[in-house]
Amino acid sequence: MDKASAKKRLLELTRLLQHHNYLYHTLDRPEISDREFDKFFAELQELEQKYPDLAHPDSPSQKVGGSVLDAFEKVSHRTPMLSLQNTYNEQDIRDFEDKIQRALQGAPQKIEFYCSPKFDGVAMELIYENGVLTKALTRGDGYVGENVFNNIKTLKSVPLRLQAESPPVYFEARGEVLMLKENFRKLNEQQDAEGEAPFANPRNAAAGTLRQLDSSIVAQRPLEFFCYSPGVIEGLALKDNSAFEELIKEFGFCTTVTLGDDGDYKKVFNLLKENKTNPLRPPLSQICSGSDEVVAYYNFIHSLRHLLPFEIDGIVVKVNSFRLQEELGFVARSPRWAFAGKFEPEQATTVIEDIVIQVGRTGALTPVAVMAPVTVGGVTITNATLHNQDEIDRKDVRIGDTVIVHRAGDVIPEVVQVVLDKRPSRSKKFVIPLTCPVCDKESVLIEGEAVRRCVNPFCPAIMKEGLKHFASRNAMNIEKLGDRLIDIFFENGLVKTFSDFYRLKKEQILELDRQGDKSADNIIKSIQKSKKTTLAKFIYSLGIRHVGEQTAKSLANHFRSLESFLSASEEELTAIRDVGPRVAYAIRQTLENKNFGKEIKHLIDLGVDVQLPAQKSRGAQLANLTFVITGSFAQSRDAIKALIEDHGGATSSSVSKKTNYLLAGEDAGSKLTKAQELGVPVLDWADFEKMLLNK
Ligand code: IVH
Repeated sequence: MDKASAKKRLLELTRLLQHHNYLYHTLDRPEISDREFDKFFAELQELEQKYPDLAHPDSPSQKVGGSVLDAFEKVSHRTPMLSLQNTYNEQDIRDFEDKIQRALQGAPQKIEFYCSPKFDGVAMELIYENGVLTKALTRGDGYVGENVFNNIKTLKSVPLRLQAESPPVYFEARGEVLMLKENFRKLNEQQDAEGEAPFANPRNAAAGTLRQLDSSIVAQRPLEFFCYSPGVIEGLALKDNSAFEELIKEFGFCTTVTLGDDGDYKKVFNLLKENKTNPLRPPLSQICSGSDEVVAYYNFIHSLRHLLPFEIDGIVVKVNSFRLQEELGFVARSPRWAFAGKFEPEQATTVIEDIVIQVGRTGALTPVAVMAPVTVGGVTITNATLHNQDEIDRKDVRIGDTVIVHRAGDVIPEVVQVVLDKRPSRSKKFVIPLTCPVCDKESVLIEGEAVRRCVNPFCPAIMKEGLKHFASRNAMNIEKLGDRLIDIFFENGLVKTFSDFYRLKKEQILELDRQGDKSADNIIKSIQKSKKTTLAKFIYSLGIRHVGEQTAKSLANHFRSLESFLSASEEELTAIRDVGPRVAYAIRQTLENKNFGKEIKHLIDLGVDVQLPAQKSRGAQLANLTFVITGSFAQSRDAIKALIEDHGGATSSSVSKKTNYLLAGEDAGSKLTKAQELGVPVLDWADFEKMLLNK
């Protein structure tokens, strides 16, 4: 393609991919299949490689990251990013309205407030010049922030260009970068599977990620940006915060959607409970008139707290009118026109009875506090990880201490702080022992890492954890082999290596205490069943450092055979999208180990059957099923068709006895009648979605 045509095509592709990114990620309503998207994306990348000078600054290829910085540039905010005055109860909220009333002469009787949840993430200011993202500033000290542009560019929910025919000349969008609870949980699982330290809570995960100097790491972490307030805007006048919210939705940002006048709290509660809202557009903001309504809103959001897909720590209440905001102005470092209604953190007090050291699959020595059982947010907590020595020192946690605990991201128990008044008089600082508590060999502290590790490959704890990983659900999936049973097999010398599982005999199991004939049979059966596996699962189950499920999938999709994976050079590995030099090195190190190579051969000789990856698709939930689509849906017909095909199903245009399901939208007509006559099951959109998710 010549340069002029390439230029034209690149612009087309950039706009097209931006649009589909937005539909997929922000609106949760894709119109093309992943495969089609990948095709366009590959075309774009190819053209950009050929003509680097033609790449647009807002090209979707920017979202994969790649640049590595030495440090972030410091930039002044044109208007400072301030903090909010806090209130903690009903009376505080009422007092606030009174204060505002007094400050405003001739104000309306009831002031209109724009209320939203207070996100517990990292504040960010995005700057768009002539519609194109040019800077992304952290709050810093409120006056000077750091430009984390390269990192922010990789966020799927950040538009690199405002969706507008004639965007404002200068536009500052302020909001919060955060990690959804679900993604936080997955990230920590992945960190764990890869032998990395977990993050303490979603906010730390988001903050830590934004501080990365290598933007390709950021591109792999799922962060969202929720926009909630304007900074400086030039070339556009807005009346109030409601108008701003409408505008940013159009521009392509994620934001909480306004409930509307009739704000039916109960309906929203049920929607969230049943997981039926778009997590990037939950209907959670509300216009409230006067403090009675604000108090009701505060209680409503409080009751929803644990159902929300992200962490919040209160509500934010703003005077809706920008004219009134200006009139009210500022006190010290906060606006007089807004306040936060904070929730008391859900915490509890308990006593640390012991600190034990756990040895993980990668040899990491993790200190864990064993506490007197206590309930937090309805769940009983007994253990909390203390992460590493630095964390223990920072919080100065000791055995016998009374501590405050909470659950980070609503999941992970965390020690918040020690109640020093209650510290026993003869307590001693806790130091992680220098030797592994299981094998007694010296542990090491690798430079640049926070955790000590046992590096003895024959450490029983490491071997045992490796076996558990191998048998686990997302690895070889040996269903009947729970952790306890593996402990017993290991301690009785029945299983020491992966391949020993496949050498197990029923008689050996029967010799163990309390194993009956039936259960021994079941164990053998499930071991046999696990032999059939996929290349991705097989690679993952080997437990190679840094190779989590996602990386294993990328490796499988790249190599497509076990032999080519086993013989890949470090260079070839590094060339794969999800594989950095550190991962490639770890893979080569492991595979070059003679015993490891032999072990893989044993597995194959014993009948492990590694299926090679098929065509890329989202799954086979709908395999062998034929659908007929009728009526109208929020998505286009083509999009639904692609979705069905992507999940292994087929579509047909007329209903017959062979039709497995009729997918019926609004105003379905003759096809619906025919399906009912023939007894073909009819699905609505919700049924269909359930089918995609559950089956
Ligand atoms: S509006 C003058 N809306 O709260 C600031 N802020 O303590 C007006 N925050 O650092 C901001 N969720 O990062 C607003 N829905 C929301 C918010 C929100 C969280 C944070 C913001 C700021 C802090 C102020």
